[in-house]
Amino acid sequence: MRILVTGGAGFIGSNFIRLLVKEHPDWHITNFDKLTYAGSQRNLADIESHINYEFVKGDIADQEDVESVFAGGFDYVVNFAAETHVDRSLYDPQIFFKTNVLGTQILLERAIKMGVGKFMQISTDEVYGSIKPPDYADESYPLNPSSPYAASKASADLLVNSYYKTHGLPIVITRTCNNYGAYQFPEKIIPFFIFKALNDERLPVYGDGSNIRDWIFVEDNCKALLAILRQGNTGEIYNISGDMMISNLELTKAILANLDKPDELVTFVKDRPGHDLRYAINASKIKRELGWNPRVNIEDGLAKTIEWYKNNLDWCRSVCSSEYREFYDIHYKDRQ
Ligand code: NAD
Ligand code: TYD
Repeated sequence: MRILVTGGAGFIGSNFIRLLVKEHPDWHITNFDKLTYAGSQRNLADIESHINYEFVKGDIADQEDVESVFAGGFDYVVNFAAETHVDRSLYDPQIFFKTNVLGTQILLERAIKMGVGKFMQISTDEVYGSIKPPDYADESYPLNPSSPYAASKASADLLVNSYYKTHGLPIVITRTCNNYGAYQFPEKIIPFFIFKALNDERLPVYGDGSNIRDWIFVEDNCKALLAILRQGNTGEIYNISGDMMISNLELTKAILANLDKPDELVTFVKDRPGHDLRYAINASKIKRELGWNPRVNIEDGLAKTIEWYKNNLDWCRSVCSSEYREFYDIHYKDRQ
């Protein structure tokens, strides 16, 4: 089996490749990644010498790069490559549409030409927008994205579906809730707050911290993705939930408690514009059809994650490039 994983040097992609190597050591894995500020080959240092793994640097939004990497053909394509941070999409939206929409279209076009067996698009619960209680969004819920990031992901989902309807490309779309775990870039709330707390710095909670997210341990998500890749029905969408909905303030206090740091480190800052209040998905389809369930609860997952970051402070320093720091310093002043 030959599999192309785009964006495999990022957080979820690298965890997914690690799972693939464990579960399917005979599959030939090509990791195709532009290595933006969010991607690093250090995330896969432990498997880079695996005989069936190769890394190719390239951009999914560059036709020549994509044609070149597809030369030998693939049985599976899994598209993780994306710009992923909502806050950055507020200040610099164009790259989100270039990578997340145009890049996906270039991959789809190539996948048709090369007769790919299955194209799996990695999407997000953010495409549904903020969900009012008591609703939970199932896979047929209307798309109502709020941020440019979410709008770009929703656009890509529609595009992927159009290649199924028009060209019969065997696709599947996954929509997962917020992931956490090892190798997550420290701009996202959990690793960001772990580092702040370890340094006794203030943790900037947006608004009043009542926004609710559903959290899944990344290894649980990767198992769900692999199950969908192997057994998911063509043309279908699968929601993936961690069954763990908590507010940002509760989450922040759990991080502080684990690190034995005082709640006084919490500081409420100006809210994120268009900040979705509540993400809530109904993920009964994957449980019913594929028998997958999340296994790691938030207490254990958070403890494991915090332990990993404490033991990998060098990793954090090395991935936080000057490009990332400059962007952060310019745009996030009011959130420090
Ligand atoms: P990430 O930001 O950690 O990694 C993204 C990777 O994509 C990086 O390695 C980056 O270098 C690469 N990349 C970016 N632009 C590229 C391009 N033009 N060509 C090739 N590679 C490029 O992201 P993540 O958190 O691992 O998310 C992976 C996917 O999962 C994304 O599609 C995201 O929308 C989706 N997702 C993430 C979450 C989450 O909580 N992190 C939840 C649901 C869905
Ligand atoms: P984030 O990790 O950026 O993921 P997403 O926006 O994709 O859900 O943010 C998760 C939640 O945490 C979101 O409601 C915004 C909030 N947040 C803060 O309150 N402070 C922060 O410094 C960050 C980065 C996020």
